[in-house]
Amino acid sequence: MDARLATAVQCMQAGRLTEAERLCRAILAAAPNDAPATHLLGFVAYKAGRPRDAIDLIGKAIALDETNADCHFNMGLALLAAGRPAEAATHFARATALKPAYAAGVENLVSLIMARANEAMAQGQIEAAIAGFGQAAALKPDFAEAHGNLGVALMAQGRPVEAAAAYRQAIAIKPTMVPVYRNLGRCLVVQGDVLGAIELARRALEIEPTDDIKIFFVRSVRSLPSPAAAARELAAFRPLLARALAEGWGKPSDLAQLAAELVKPQPARDDALLLAHLTTTPVGDLALERWLTDERRRLLMDGDGTDETLTFACALAQQCFINEYVFAEDEDETRRVAELRDVVAAGRAAGALQIATLAAYVPLHRLPNARALLDRDWPEPVRAVLAQQVQEPREEADDRARIPALTAVADPVSRAVRDQYEEMPYPRWVRLPLADAPLPIDQHMRARFPHAPLRPVGRAGGADILVAGCGTGRHPIESARRYAGAHVLAVDLSLGSLAYARRKTRELALANVAYAQADLLELGGIERRFDVIECAGVLHHLADPWAGWRILLSLLRPNGLMFIGLYSRRARAAVRRARDFIAERGLGPSAADIRRFRQELIARDKADPLKPVTRMADFCTTSNCRDLLFHVQEHQVEIAEIKAFLAANRLTFIGFELDPAVEQNYRRRFPRDAAMVDLDGWDAFEADNPLTFANMYQFWVQKP
Ligand SMILES: C[S@@+](CC[C@H](N)C(=O)[O-])C[C@H]1O[C@@H](n2cnc3c(N)ncnc32)[C@H](O)[C@@H]1O
Repeated sequence: MDARLATAVQCMQAGRLTEAERLCRAILAAAPNDAPATHLLGFVAYKAGRPRDAIDLIGKAIALDETNADCHFNMGLALLAAGRPAEAATHFARATALKPAYAAGVENLVSLIMARANEAMAQGQIEAAIAGFGQAAALKPDFAEAHGNLGVALMAQGRPVEAAAAYRQAIAIKPTMVPVYRNLGRCLVVQGDVLGAIELARRALEIEPTDDIKIFFVRSVRSLPSPAAAARELAAFRPLLARALAEGWGKPSDLAQLAAELVKPQPARDDALLLAHLTTTPVGDLALERWLTDERRRLLMDGDGTDETLTFACALAQQCFINEYVFAEDEDETRRVAELRDVVAAGRAAGALQIATLAAYVPLHRLPNARALLDRDWPEPVRAVLAQQVQEPREEADDRARIPALTAVADPVSRAVRDQYEEMPYPRWVRLPLADAPLPIDQHMRARFPHAPLRPVGRAGGADILVAGCGTGRHPIESARRYAGAHVLAVDLSLGSLAYARRKTRELALANVAYAQADLLELGGIERRFDVIECAGVLHHLADPWAGWRILLSLLRPNGLMFIGLYSRRARAAVRRARDFIAERGLGPSAADIRRFRQELIARDKADPLKPVTRMADFCTTSNCRDLLFHVQEHQVEIAEIKAFLAANRLTFIGFELDPAVEQNYRRRFPRDAAMVDLDGWDAFEADNPLTFANMYQFWVQKP
């Protein structure tokens, strides 16, 4: 080697780039076609951060000596630095072909690039992450993880079409990468291809039935815009749906509509999907309700049957308990039920089918000798009915005495509301969905609202959470499972609801939820403060919702987050009509009046202005129907009022909880509102789509 070239190499290695460059130029002045000096000058340019010069010079060196592996490798580095990874890959491949030892060099390089891209992603530098994963994928086209991570980064940037392409590539390379199926499925949901997402979930479940995929399957089903329209194509999914319901992969109510659509064309007593539906969630389909009502009557009147009949009768009894005996009943049935009740109450030996049939008309715990039923031997389906209708209510009755009172309940409206929920705790839920792995609150919120103006709550050790108006516990239990290390205090007016919640919490062996009876209007006097306060479906039942909200705000720490659910005036137009009708008719909130009212609406013509309420999820059980239409106290609000409240209390709006498809529609209409926090935009969106918030305005705000 030319001595000057050797010195130039030493200078370059020591970082003295100007000196190295001067020496190379001196060599080239005398011999312009000196390949090693040209190469070195190019490499120095690369080191100096001038990749374009490097590409020119190293390219020239390669033209002079195409078989130099080092030149090709360094050319690859320069091309990478210039953002041309595909060409870089060609040169790395050539370098490796000429000198196999370079394979390890390329491998290390890819690892380094991946590590940097992952780091960029973790810090929210999505552009840099996309560049990095793209480079890694170009350098190593069969590297499935690089394609998969590229998809995640593209999705985070709101580019679902490209993300889907990256995910498909990852799956093509490595068909066993189950999480990528879920990610691809999410892209498809956002693009409106829900059936495609459900099919992906099915394929992934065949490879490895992870909890993540089970959860994703249910969420995809929930995203179906019209389960009725999709039923034919999803007929093959019956067994999966039955498993999802029976094993509790997701909220049973998310699967109910599709299950009903699949069952009702040919309902059969031994249909596993029907049985799973009956035992887990109220039937919301009116045609199926009609069939079940008739079947129940037949069971009562016929009075005998096979084992199959017993299994069905027990499932039906569980359904009737869950829906609080909302089905219609005629006078013959009432008479026959009274006779049957006398038989059982008198302690005369009643058969399994008689017990099951009776339990489909009245809750067994109301019978005078209900406990004695627990002492007898029963087939398994009857045992399940007795657990539901005798054992569990008994535990709840014991629990009531153990629930501490945190405040008095003095306000007249609070007392009336308490009495309503004492009579009919809401909601009567059966099974909780599988939970995502818990995350610290800040991480969870950042993932949920990637573009929102969030500040860290900063409770690494676990947030203190208050659930105000916790009802029967589904809400606080979900919060306790969602946030790592959370400590939850859940309060409600109704001891019946709290007892139900307490029993469910015990069943799930959750130790981080404490319950107390309290009126949120009185909570201003307690000393505890919270990082998160959740209050969904409660404030609109106060005399003054805004006053209640202000009291809760006083309990929130700085930077604390609040989740609120309030009725939308626009979405509840049909409910207002129904409430007027109920008032005109002088109907009361008794179970009998609710049943009568429902039957009258069900019988009405499709075009009747009251008909839309029959399609609301809460129409299908007695307590839900009471909550929906017969409430003692109800306010409905508008987005403008929420906006004014946030401004007056200096609260930052973080975002609505909505289905991804709705979010996507909003994004299309308001592409400039990337964080989706413009309440005027949402107001305009709701004006065009009045049922957007049929399930309440549910949103997060943050305190300054
Ligand atoms: C419609 S339920 C909602 C329950 C629960 N948040 C959920 O989403 O499942 C309303 C609950 O709020 C409770 N509630 C209403 N007013 C309240 C008040 N002033 N203080 C505490 N709880 C109240 C009721 O007792 C009832 O259980």
